Amino acid sequence: MPYAHITGWGMSVPESVLTNDDIAKMVDTSDEWIRERTGIRERRIAKEDQFTSTLAVEAAIKALKVANLAPTELDLIIVTSSSPEYIFPATASLVQDQIGATKAGAFDLSAACSGFIYATNMAAQSIRSGSIKNALVIGSETLSRFTNWKDRGTCILFGDGAGAFVLQASEKPGGVLSAVMRSDGSGADSLTLQGGGSRHPATEETVHEGKHFVQMDGKAVFRFATRVMSSATREALERIGMNLEEVDWIIPHQANYRIIETASKYLKVPLDKFIINVDRYGNTSTASIPIAAVEAVEQGKLKSGNKVVFVGFGAGLAWGALVAQWSGPIPAKKNVYPEQYRIFARLRSLLRRVLRFIEGLLSRREL
Ligand SMILES: CC(C)(COP(=O)(O)OP(=O)(O)OC[C@H]1O[C@@H](n2cnc3c(N)ncnc32)[C@H](O)[C@@H]1OP(=O)(O)O)[C@@H](O)C(=O)NCCC(=O)NCCS
Repeated sequence: MPYAHITGWGMSVPESVLTNDDIAKMVDTSDEWIRERTGIRERRIAKEDQFTSTLAVEAAIKALKVANLAPTELDLIIVTSSSPEYIFPATASLVQDQIGATKAGAFDLSAACSGFIYATNMAAQSIRSGSIKNALVIGSETLSRFTNWKDRGTCILFGDGAGAFVLQASEKPGGVLSAVMRSDGSGADSLTLQGGGSRHPATEETVHEGKHFVQMDGKAVFRFATRVMSSATREALERIGMNLEEVDWIIPHQANYRIIETASKYLKVPLDKFIINVDRYGNTSTASIPIAAVEAVEQGKLKSGNKVVFVGFGAGLAWGALVAQWSGPIPAKKNVYPEQYRIFARLRSLLRRVLRFIEGLLSRREL
């Protein structure tokens, strides 16, 4: 049975920074309050022409470059997002087209902030089953578009960004070792974005009621999060007979510094074993774990061979943890330049649109 190794990683965040002081000009809050209650100092906000797929593609190309893998070699693309570009088509299909992944299947996975753990596990299991060899998993968000900038209970928390992993099959032991995926829909109303779905299709009323914005019971989510972070971590490790002392790093979902601090206490694992960057990006939902992982590699913390636990929670309620042995690129004889495929991808996409248009004209004439 092949192993599923994480061989590439990449991230993309918008340049534009929104500080706590900036938010204090919009709602009744302060830098001090936000830092004390959440640990967040600033977050990134996408420009008008940056979409969920834009950030996803940038992160994906970087991940493919690290893996030295051509987009044409991908068998599967999973995008997970709490702020997808459309209800359909899947953001993953937009990414597939833009990077030129000509033979990849593509779908979106919705599990809110736990999405990256779910998606990485799904990709890993597809590789482990032998049905595919190369997968791309992306968490990408433009949550600022769904943030109510008049609600101080939520607008302080979220940010935009994307992170991606490439997973590849290898006979060498390692890679994704274990995962736990859990859900409790009885808590569904704790954290929602209701507008535009089939229950609340867009009307003037839904807009006035703010149903197209994130709504949250902060305290309920806080309590749930602190509980499941430690239980999911322990369960994922137990499944492979590993104990916490063997873990080099814990990379948690970056929602709130205090939640991470509480998890560290519950697990009796020192905070310096946790990768934390919530101060600079806020909660980027599905993107927070891969962004933290990429920064940990860049800072020389997360190294090949390290045992790492990814753990996340969010709307659903849903949560999960995944244990992996960090790998690195599979040695290859020649260098691949995934960014160059974007040019061909654009031409190919344009050509296919033209052909589809001509096909439409011809079929109209036949009728
Ligand atoms: C949102 C969160 C920071 C609020 O912190 P909290 O300590 O629970 O604060 P509360 O909601 O109890 O509010 C306490 C007081 O601060 C006020 N307050 C809320 N937001 C505020 C803000 N941004 N600035 C200043 N005051 C604020 C409240 O109105 C309340 O005032 P009151 O006592 O006069 O009624 C916290 O609940 C949290 O982080 N929850 C988890 C959210 C999360 O992670 N969501 C994503 C999951 S993926």
